[in-house]
Amino acid sequence: MATNAGINLVRRMRRNRGTPSIRSLVRETVLRTEDLIQPLFVRSGEGDPDPVASMPGVVRHTVTTLAEECRKVAGLGIPAVALFPRIEPSLKDSTGTHATDPANVLFAAIRAVKKAVPGLTLIVDVALDPYTDHGHDGILDGKGSIENDSTVEALSRLAVAQAEAGADIVAPSDMMDGRVRAIRTALDAAGHQGVSILAYSAKYASAFYGPFRDAVGSGEVSAPLDKRTYQMDPANVREAVLEVQLDEQEGADMVMVKPAGPYLDVVRAIREATDLPLAAYQVSGEYAQIHAAAKLGWLDYVSTRDEALLAIKRAGADMILTYFAAEVAESLR
Ligand code: PBG
Repeated sequence: MATNAGINLVRRMRRNRGTPSIRSLVRETVLRTEDLIQPLFVRSGEGDPDPVASMPGVVRHTVTTLAEECRKVAGLGIPAVALFPRIEPSLKDSTGTHATDPANVLFAAIRAVKKAVPGLTLIVDVALDPYTDHGHDGILDGKGSIENDSTVEALSRLAVAQAEAGADIVAPSDMMDGRVRAIRTALDAAGHQGVSILAYSAKYASAFYGPFRDAVGSGEVSAPLDKRTYQMDPANVREAVLEVQLDEQEGADMVMVKPAGPYLDVVRAIREATDLPLAAYQVSGEYAQIHAAAKLGWLDYVSTRDEALLAIKRAGADMILTYFAAEVAESLR
């Protein structure tokens, strides 16, 4: 027989979930537009931007359309963009010499964005993979391994050239040892004390970068790219803390964990290990997964997108690089 008394519970957790207004009072994490960084791709030439097949809604901009897009992104209240070039295959070689060629489209793009939207923070990736014909982030020695120290020198020159063109933040994504200190020293020597370093400190050798490699063309090589001798083993988390500690000692202004969604424990561990601002990169594969499942009708697009981003914030990220940035900012308005 049912009674009104029911079971005798001191704490009924559902009381705090009963209405939208109560849920909003007790909500612990809120995703804001100010947390978001929009990654953008740029190529040389004119015409319409070309779509990236494996990343619906993402395009490779021309310098002209990039500047327009940055105006739009800034207008939505997004504080920063992260810029990646797609280089013509004919300009690539084994050491990535085009990186510091004044004709590199990246420098024109940096100048155009700074001119169009001076207040938008411009983050530029420091790595050689867009420029090497083998697609690696560094210089290959004769035996097929990536040379650390000569790569660090090349990266330092690239970072200085990016700062010269107007980058606000340079973001080494290469995972070479000692690159943060070398880049800091080179920037300071060139008078760029005000340019920040966002270190990709815990960047894993992840299969989730596949669509990005299509976007920048670093995957256009015969064998699948194996970056495990420099990017981190997905099995490790203590090693990520060591990487962050080193980058902090070397002068990083901010640190990053990448990818984000499958590495939330790493985001949490780094949050607890450093007081530096922490970025997490929701990478191309995380973006493509949500799009693909939604297209098949297997997941709800908007709610999975928003939940994935909220989870990254909850894990401890101060800022999130995400291809969803502009559309999420629009929905937060
Ligand atoms: C290259 C770089 C990569 C990404 C950002 N910078 C790919 C890689 O290391 O092969 C991945 C971004 C993404 O997947 O969205 N230095």
